Amino acid sequence: PAAVIVAIDGPSGTGKSSTSRAVAAQLGLRYLDTGAQYRAITWWMLTNGIDVNDATEVAAASGKPSIVSGTDPRDPAIAADGADASGPIRTQEVTAAVSAVSAVPEVRARITGLQRAIAAGAGGGIVVEGRDIGTTVLPDADLKVFLTASAEARAARRSGELKAADGSAAGDLAATQQALAQRDKADSSRKASPLKKADDAVEVDTTELSLDQVIECVVTLIEKAA
Ligand code: C5P
Repeated sequence: PAAVIVAIDGPSGTGKSSTSRAVAAQLGLRYLDTGAQYRAITWWMLTNGIDVNDATEVAAASGKPSIVSGTDPRDPAIAADGADASGPIRTQEVTAAVSAVSAVPEVRARITGLQRAIAAGAGGGIVVEGRDIGTTVLPDADLKVFLTASAEARAARRSGELKAADGSAAGDLAATQQALAQRDKADSSRKASPLKKADDAVEVDTTELSLDQVIECVVTLIEKAA
């Protein structure tokens, strides 16, 4: 499909990243992980002594670091102020702080601007993954998908990922489910561009689906939309 713009939104642990990367790779599209951008600016703030719970301080610092996203679905690297942030943005410290930082309107305005510029510059089409892509960032996307899954399925997937990443006790299921629920609540209830299904998004419940089935479903939707 030529220059198709696809928005994939939904809460944490629904398979957004795995699905979006695979679909983009399969169809030869670019890929943008907008959660990684919010994580990168959060990581930069944490490492530069910004109090992430002080919205005034966060707002004042929101324009400072350069945030550069790779859009290759096979290697979506991200840098903050020239430093590779791909590893550190996945730490629990960043995960715990990102919802507070991303709720600050100045941060959202900055990152949304970057997202729109990247989408506009992706000549061959792009899959953009996040929380507010279909509602706010790219309301004219050719296809909007909203992925959901039961709280249990989401926690099980995320806990599996954590175990695979560092083999640690971070794989604890109940704690993971609680942390996910807390982040989703914060993301859905914030004033600035909350997590929400766009009216014209196609909702896909992935609870009973394998990753391959979700990928196939989204590829079919894109082929129909393009
Ligand atoms: O998708 P991921 O879990 O990496 O996103 C991390 C956080 O970034 C989310 O919990 C949310 O606070 C924020 N985010 C957002 N808007 C987006 C994407 C992510 O506010 N479009």
